[in-house]
Amino acid sequence: MTTRRQFFGYAGAAAVGAAAAGGAVAVGTDAPEAQPVARVVGPYGEHQPAIAAPSPKNAELVALKLLPGADKAGLGRLMRLWSNDIVALADGRAAPGDPAPGLAVANVALTVTVGFGARVFELTGQKPAGLDDLPVMKHDRLDPAWSGGDLLVMVGADDAVSVVHAVRRLVADAKPFATPVWRQTGFWNGTGSDGQPVTGRNLFGQVDGTGNPAVGTPEFDSTVWSTDGPDWFRGGTTLVVRRIRMNLDTWDELTRSEQERAVGRKLSNGAPLTGAAEHDELDLQARDAGGRLVIAENSHARLSHHSENDGRRIFRKGLNYVQDTGPNRESGLIFLSYQADVAGQFLPLLARLDAADTLNEWTTTIGSAVFALPPGFQPGGWLAQYLLG
Ligand code: HEM
Repeated sequence: MTTRRQFFGYAGAAAVGAAAAGGAVAVGTDAPEAQPVARVVGPYGEHQPAIAAPSPKNAELVALKLLPGADKAGLGRLMRLWSNDIVALADGRAAPGDPAPGLAVANVALTVTVGFGARVFELTGQKPAGLDDLPVMKHDRLDPAWSGGDLLVMVGADDAVSVVHAVRRLVADAKPFATPVWRQTGFWNGTGSDGQPVTGRNLFGQVDGTGNPAVGTPEFDSTVWSTDGPDWFRGGTTLVVRRIRMNLDTWDELTRSEQERAVGRKLSNGAPLTGAAEHDELDLQARDAGGRLVIAENSHARLSHHSENDGRRIFRKGLNYVQDTGPNRESGLIFLSYQADVAGQFLPLLARLDAADTLNEWTTTIGSAVFALPPGFQPGGWLAQYLLG
């Protein structure tokens, strides 16, 4: 049997375990009692390791635009460079040329994930499906400042200093090839007050991530990893990044029961309104004494549930964000959706929610981008080498 450690390709004595649900993590210790855990996520694996690992406490996403004159050979050089950086940074070592080597530290669960936008495949061919801009939804108010991008680099770690340091290194190494077009920083808390892993909460206060396919199950694998498409992409996936503004002021005007009805789950522990515990199955047929559906017709949990969507699933990992301008604050969610097939899995869900979701009253998508995430690499190899080598 594959152990969790093998599955994730984690390095280190006590590796971090599986994320069950976008932040609902099982800490990977073989001992019956939870131990303090060295937070090391190895850089290698069949898949880029951060995807199935627990949500990082801090993360930064940088989208870059390829410079005029970029070509396949240049991209290959950049991926070799980045792969070396990724190995060093994950290990807590300074990458070659690091002007601030003292900021490279170990045991902060540092991960780097790299993605390619559609433009990359104009240079290389062998484009996976689903990378074109998503159709604009009725409720979208997209700002080009948060949208698109030719390359994505996403760094996560327990520690914000490490994130900023790693991003600085990776962006500096990309300078001859590409320049940043947007940056988004976010945060997530997947640890309860007792130090144990929990499903985290978004800024509405909702437990967010419960309905995800559990990492390590066949359901997770078939949801996330690409098995068709070009050969080089086997073991890769696609990532949709949506920057979703959340109106906390008007949300706060609702009663608690109105807030719960909008989603169909309890705020206390994320349980369905028809159940008691977070992971109880939803009863979508249940009605109250007045004959009303307990999980309302247009509630988010009903409309997004796989049983209402021909079995379609995605793997979501949110990052909360705040954006301050002087005394003013905007809050929201950097919504990250991983799936093997954007058109077959993500888009129908998105269209359904856009058409009817009660939550639309308090949420507005202001940024959108889609990337192909190449498979992972092994020692001696490098990212996307079967595309660019
Ligand atoms: C700011 C925007 C959003 C918020 C606050 C939000 C919040 C939530 C919450 C609280 C749940 C229930 C707990 C859980 O299973 O995680 C949930 C479930 C879910 N959401 Fe969202 N969501 C947002 C946007 C979206 C979008 C854009 C999509 C897809 C296009 C989506 C797809 C789903 C799916 C698939 C589920 C799980 C359904 C199941 O139980 O099978 N959500 N979301």
